Amino acid sequence: MTFKKRVSASVFLLSSVVASLCVLPANEKNPLSSSPELLKKGESLFKSNCVGCHGPKGLGDGPDVDKKDRANRPANLAMSRNPEGVVFYKIWNGRGEPKMTAFKSRMTKDEAWAVVAYVTSSLRSQPAAAP
Ligand code: HEC
Repeated sequence: MTFKKRVSASVFLLSSVVASLCVLPANEKNPLSSSPELLKKGESLFKSNCVGCHGPKGLGDGPDVDKKDRANRPANLAMSRNPEGVVFYKIWNGRGEPKMTAFKSRMTKDEAWAVVAYVTSSLRSQPAAAP
């Protein structure tokens, strides 16, 4: 391979890697199969990372939240019907306004997927809060 060809081949490779990283994983499925152990791991990660904002049942009423500040209220996860790929994306990347922490530098992908399993099965099976 000539030097020029090698350069263009690596540019091509690099750009396809970048492109694949930019795809929104909304349709992504949990790569870990659900099990009582996975849900337990997800629950304990949820308790240590999410409860402060989303509350113990995910209702958006955690102790760190200013209840009077309705505009910045964390989501009610028990009511949400977002698919698991979207839930993963939110956990991984966080969001701006209202602010949610991004967890990509705080957990592994497997840990984030364990939380996704807990959020989309255990929390959602709780009866919804009284209106
Ligand atoms: C600093 C407070 C804070 C922390 C910590 C936090 N969140 Fe959030 N979260 C928010 C806010 C605020 C929103 C946006 C609410 C809105 O869209 O109006 C949100 C939105 C979400 C959403 C999208 C809403 C939906 O309908 O599905 C998901 C999922 C979510 N959070 C899950 C989590 C999980 C799981 C954790 C722990 C790993 C977590 N959050 C930690 C504040 C927080």
